[in-house]
Amino acid sequence: MTDKKFVVTPWEVTGRVDYDRLVREFGTQHISPELATRLEEILGPASYLVRRRIFFSHRDLDLALRDYEKGRGFFLYTGRGPSGPMHIGHISQFYFTKLLQDKFKTNVYIQITDDEKFLEVKRNLSYMDTQHWAEENMLDILATGFDPDRTFIIQDTEFVGHSYPLILKIAKRINYNLTKAVFGFTGETNVGMLFYPSIQILPSLLEKRRCLIPAAIDQDPYWRIQRDIAEGLGYFKAAAIHSKFLPPLTGTQDKMSSSKPETAIYLNDDDKTVRRKINKRAFSGGQATVEEHRRLGGNPDTDVPFQWLYMFFEPDDQKLHKIREDYRSGRLLTGELKEILTEKVIGFLHEHRKRRDEAVNKVRLFKHDGALSQKMWKTDFEKL
Ligand code: TYM
Repeated sequence: MTDKKFVVTPWEVTGRVDYDRLVREFGTQHISPELATRLEEILGPASYLVRRRIFFSHRDLDLALRDYEKGRGFFLYTGRGPSGPMHIGHISQFYFTKLLQDKFKTNVYIQITDDEKFLEVKRNLSYMDTQHWAEENMLDILATGFDPDRTFIIQDTEFVGHSYPLILKIAKRINYNLTKAVFGFTGETNVGMLFYPSIQILPSLLEKRRCLIPAAIDQDPYWRIQRDIAEGLGYFKAAAIHSKFLPPLTGTQDKMSSSKPETAIYLNDDDKTVRRKINKRAFSGGQATVEEHRRLGGNPDTDVPFQWLYMFFEPDDQKLHKIREDYRSGRLLTGELKEILTEKVIGFLHEHRKRRDEAVNKVRLFKHDGALSQKMWKTDFEKL
């Protein structure tokens, strides 16, 4: 979606995103209070992400929950385009998906789109770059703790050949005008990119049950096409749960993006770098001097450290409430708020990297040897 104020496409997010307008224009639905309560009861520790509407919109989430309650179940699908090191916004999707897996006991398909990132001209990545980042990103994804027997990592350049008959069935139903309308493709777009949507749709058809896709809302255009064609192929329309974008350090506009390293925190940033980025770069809603801040208070709505706590790093509602009120009243200073966030981020990254180191020997399980991976490699896609 593009207008003069903001842009949200799978390849670009800029400006101040109007999420209500996205819901209207994408034709998705806000998560209603009733639906949120149903989900929160199941989610436990991650329920704050729904309660605070970080995950705010959906397609057919109610139907996925009904399938779960009726015993038919559903499966999860999410992914990553390996274009560089992952940042906190990316990994938040995988922590959320892992929690969904734990709570619903579902299979999870994780697509690593090394093909997409090679084809995206403006990234200027060589084929070997995408292979390198695929290896690196997979370790970060596995550090979130997915179940090796219920999780399959689809690295596109490896799995596309095996699943080609199903990809062809998808591709045959998508015409150029549709991709032009949905993605804004033009005569300049390379034919690899024109074909690529068939590949991102593939994992949503790997089971004859409903697929629920957690992702930020930038990926929704693919699901719109999926929902046009899935039933005609004998599958379910994909359900989706959409999140907002974790903002960059520099302000509550745009999304945290790999292409602007100083505005993002990467999973491999060391403590010193985290401290420096937050202190120097994080946009503050505080006043110019301590005296003014004490007198007038800060604005948590525009303050990026507060927003990061709200959106990911502080699950405890009461603690968050106190931080908000202390900041607003001027009791809590900008430097102190930044320090709270810095400690949280450093602690999170230490734990994450410990688990990442342990994941090094497990990649094969998720790509080939675990129960779900084996099943996928044994599937005869010609006969589907
Ligand atoms: P990619 O690598 O751009 O993004 C990976 C995931 O991170 C989400 N995301 C964010 N979430 C919160 N805050 C941010 N600032 C932020 N930036 C990105 C994305 O929405 C995504 O969930 N084409 C996809 C790969 C893919 C995929 C999928 C993603 C293939 N199949 C299914 C989600 C679901 C891509 O390049 O994602």
